[in-house]
Amino acid sequence: MEVRSHLRSILFTLLCISLVAPLSVFSHRSLGSNPCDRKTLPDPQSLRFDQLTVLINGYSESRIPLLHSIAATYAASSLVSSILVLWGNPSTSSQTLAELSRNLSILYSAGASITVHPQKSSSLNSRFLPRPSIKTRAVLICDDDIEVDPKSVDFAFRVWQSNPDRLVGFFARSHDLDLPRKTWIYTVHPDKYSIILTKFMILKNERLYSYSCGGGGSWERMRNVVEEMRNCEDILMNFVVADATGEGPTMVAAERVRDWGDPRNEGGERGEETKAGLSSVNRGGGEHRKRRGDCIREFHRILGRMPLRYSYGKVVNSVGEQGMCEKGGKLVLCDHQPLN
Ligand SMILES: *[C@@H]1O[C@H](CO)[C@@H](O)[C@H](O)[C@H]1NC(C)=O
Repeated sequence: MEVRSHLRSILFTLLCISLVAPLSVFSHRSLGSNPCDRKTLPDPQSLRFDQLTVLINGYSESRIPLLHSIAATYAASSLVSSILVLWGNPSTSSQTLAELSRNLSILYSAGASITVHPQKSSSLNSRFLPRPSIKTRAVLICDDDIEVDPKSVDFAFRVWQSNPDRLVGFFARSHDLDLPRKTWIYTVHPDKYSIILTKFMILKNERLYSYSCGGGGSWERMRNVVEEMRNCEDILMNFVVADATGEGPTMVAAERVRDWGDPRNEGGERGEETKAGLSSVNRGGGEHRKRRGDCIREFHRILGRMPLRYSYGKVVNSVGEQGMCEKGGKLVLCDHQPLN
């Protein structure tokens, strides 16, 4: 009798294990793949402050040679801890990706490690996913068609370090209110800006978490807008940061930036940009600008407020020019001084 009940309880236990085990494996897996699970991310206190992680968005196979040269430039910088190539084109064959990975790993000897990460979803939101492999506080988000001279990258990183709460970049745009039409628009102003583009954007690691996991139905709906519009993830990041800080971003002047996506590069004419920020103002024409305006309008409608803030002027890397100002007896960067 006793033996039989013992057996029964063993059988019952076995039954429970067999039922529960697959479930627990499943839930463990789905937890493990939840990018917003803080337990999977490094402790923010342990992140390095003296280097940055570069996330390059790659999509076009025809631009792979250019991607090579851009990755090589970053890999050679002592300020770069590692480079992640986020590959967003789902139709690229796994052979090509493996080859790309092999090719890029040769650059590893230059310093920073380089890895290729095929994106699980084609959503533009995934370029801002928090990632366990990012071990630095600073993250540089950039496109695969933007070449920047190494000195300017270093300078932009120094500027970010002096104010890590802000977005820092070379390419800036503006939101504005079109008064006659009573509507928000996307535009370029000669003397002020409120949006840093993801062509080149330095931000703190935690912003990836805020963007992707930020609480409340509003932010989730705004992320859905990005997904539906297949555009505007950079504008939304500017909303996230401005909403958290109440401040505008910081534009930095680069010595030499080459934007291969600029229409002036087409037809054999290569547009070399000296002085960043002026480039690709006309890119994509009116339709592109209109869609970006639609995003701003939609984000504002969902959030019920306009967090974007203007900044004025840009930070220049030369003492004696408008780059440095005297404030309270100390020489400091002339951050956000109005131009006039
Ligand atoms: C890898 O490098 C080889 C040799 O330079 C080149 O022919 C090939 O196109 C490269 N492939 C990729 C995907 O980078």
